[in-house]
Amino acid sequence: MKHLALSLGLVAYAISAPPALAQSTFDRIKVDAGEDLFFSECRRCHAPDATDPSYGPQLDGIVGRKAGTVDGYDYSDALAGSGIVWTPPALRAWMEDNDGFMPGTKMRHVGIGDRTIQDFILAYLSSLSAQ
Ligand code: HEC
Repeated sequence: MKHLALSLGLVAYAISAPPALAQSTFDRIKVDAGEDLFFSECRRCHAPDATDPSYGPQLDGIVGRKAGTVDGYDYSDALAGSGIVWTPPALRAWMEDNDGFMPGTKMRHVGIGDRTIQDFILAYLSSLSAQ
């Protein structure tokens, strides 16, 4: 949490400080903040890569991935048959109200409606390449 507070502090600085920080620095700060948020909100069920089996499907390469396609993972019928692709807007809707977005999913409700928090988690998820 200390790390998160520091990251958020740096983001506040980056937003307010003229001249703007280099875009790459700003992006790195967002990914760091997103990593902290992922570890507090998602990590107990999801691993960032395939080396670490978890209760939920691993999420490397999730941005742009077709839903329900981790080999060997036992998805709900709702998710397996959804036919959706995990675009950023779909991931936002999922973070905000996953079981409202997709009735029948077995992922327990998470309710992250704050767009800035979603931005950070999306930045982190986007940094996870498919393996
Ligand atoms: C309590 C455990 C739990 C938590 C916490 C959790 N998830 Fe999940 N997640 C699951 C399960 C279980 C599934 C599979 C759902 C299904 O098959 O219906 C899933 C599925 C997903 C999928 C679809 C993956 C695919 O291969 O199609 C995404 C994306 C996802 N979760 C993102 C997140 C994010 C981002 C967070 C944190 C904000 C999060 N989850 C928090 C358990 C969890």
